[in-house]
Amino acid sequence: MAQSIAFDRAADYYDDTRGFPPGEETRVADAICRAGSLTSDSRVLEIGIGTGRIALPLAGRVQAVYGVDLSLPMMQRLRAKQDSEPVYVAQGDATRLPLAAAQFDAVVSVHVFHLIPDWQSALHEVGRVLKSGGNLIHCWSVPDNVHQVLWEAWRSALPNQEGHEVGMRFEHSPTALHEMGWKAQGDPITHAYHTTTTPRQFAERLQNRIWSQTWRLTDAQLAQAVGAVWEAIREHYDTPDDVLHASTAYFAQAYQPPAS
Ligand SMILES: C[S@@+](CC[C@H](N)C(=O)[O-])C[C@H]1O[C@@H](n2cnc3c(N)ncnc32)[C@H](O)[C@@H]1O
Repeated sequence: MAQSIAFDRAADYYDDTRGFPPGEETRVADAICRAGSLTSDSRVLEIGIGTGRIALPLAGRVQAVYGVDLSLPMMQRLRAKQDSEPVYVAQGDATRLPLAAAQFDAVVSVHVFHLIPDWQSALHEVGRVLKSGGNLIHCWSVPDNVHQVLWEAWRSALPNQEGHEVGMRFEHSPTALHEMGWKAQGDPITHAYHTTTTPRQFAERLQNRIWSQTWRLTDAQLAQAVGAVWEAIREHYDTPDDVLHASTAYFAQAYQPPAS
């Protein structure tokens, strides 16, 4: 089976390219708390904690956040940003959590299951470490509303790529857990936010292999697909530096494990 995708190579630029606009990170933390009914007594685990983009703002709202990640460089970034937030990390694989059973009031997963080929085992591990009555708070976002035409150009230039995800497909995120027997607790909490960007920035991020979906492409595949994106930019925009006001939405849905 393929291996999970660790983010060592992204550690230096992850926060610059995936960070929320100022202020949004606290609203995202609030959305996660609401979705999972978290309180200042909650002990929370984040699988794939990365640089702490989610965990650090969340930590001020709960008792503590524990995190597991394959990537030491990503967690070193977290450490460098950490002040006095109660965040504790360990290197480990979400499919074999180095943790005792029934310890956490909640587990948080944000943009991680698509990187894990055996995401079903990771889900099983989440169920094992949750206390009785605890929730998995599964979070996902939808692509912004301004880059569709460029993503279409990208995908049409890579017809044999079945998708870059080695694990759960992005479009499967809203339904995958339900299909595995996990029980949604209420409706997803939705948080919309806005960013600005330009077509040039989009093309350059692909060219520079910022996103994990570019990491397994050959140089020739990348050049062909980035060329197609530039053609679409010339066709659809006045200039590559048009400022685009993008909106995107972020979802947090709590689930309880299937009865065992
Ligand atoms: C896209 S980043 C998301 C980080 C953080 N959750 C956030 O939203 O900013 C995914 C993280 O999951 C980690 N990861 C991938 N596969 C993993 C696995 N099997 N076990 C633990 N961590 C994993 C990667 O190293 C990376 O740091």
